Amino acid sequence: MLVEDLIIHFSKSVLLDGVLRVLVACEESQAVTKELRKLGHEAFSCDLLPESGGHPEWHIQDDVTELLKLKWDMIIAFPPCTYLTVTGNRWFNVQKYGEKAIQRHKDREFAIKFFKMFADANCDYIAIENPVGIMSSEWRKPNQIINPYQFGDPFEKKTCLWLKGLPKLEATNIVEPPKRTEFASGKSMPTWYADAWKLPKEERAKLRSKTFDGIAKNIAVQFTCFIKSGLSLLDWDELHISEKNRIFTQ
Ligand SMILES: C[S@@+](CC[C@H](N)C(=O)[O-])C[C@H]1O[C@@H](n2cnc3c(N)ncnc32)[C@H](O)[C@@H]1O
Repeated sequence: MLVEDLIIHFSKSVLLDGVLRVLVACEESQAVTKELRKLGHEAFSCDLLPESGGHPEWHIQDDVTELLKLKWDMIIAFPPCTYLTVTGNRWFNVQKYGEKAIQRHKDREFAIKFFKMFADANCDYIAIENPVGIMSSEWRKPNQIINPYQFGDPFEKKTCLWLKGLPKLEATNIVEPPKRTEFASGKSMPTWYADAWKLPKEERAKLRSKTFDGIAKNIAVQFTCFIKSGLSLLDWDELHISEKNRIFTQ
């Protein structure tokens, strides 16, 4: 779908009661988009890449910047983390890597601005996802750090969420993550992450940045249930977990 078509669609269509209009920014997998659609919400994914989720009719293959000017009930964003992680910090050493490092600093500046564009969007409910990285010091600490193994997928991947107007996600199905791969250096890495080294660079990055199914489902269910509940964040936090689970499964 083109941005222009989406604008026309928005101007002509009226949403049914309880249906939310959600932008899932920087999502080619459509993992969260599809979960939101299953719940009946009007979700659209947007990415520079074509979608790999099988629903081009819900995908805008374009720069997301223009879409942020539209009125959304909720925005879920997965901005690129290549220049925001701490693991690559040594590549920013200008004395050692010269022009390449200078370019990396510029790319990092751009990545920070891009990330903050979502935080500044005119929307009451925003969630921004990224691995542990420099945004914690450049901007603010994330509201929570989650792992796929808290949501039924036996994998480890520390995932930060910066939230506006939304509650922290509740772990719904904690499973055991497999043993990490250990290296001769003494360092270790989640095995699924280490195994991705076998893939070509582009595929590796795509695989590592995909949202796990359990997290995707819980982002969709928990955030939309909270919004539909009409409760304040304080009142929501005071609900017993059994009551929240009852709401999630309704
Ligand atoms: C870290 S990946 C997130 C992938 C996501 N978790 C998924 O499951 O599809 C970041 C994504 O941002 C996309 N991207 C980068 N710049 C963008 C832009 N200006 N507008 C829209 N998407 C962009 C990239 O193509 C990439 O797919």
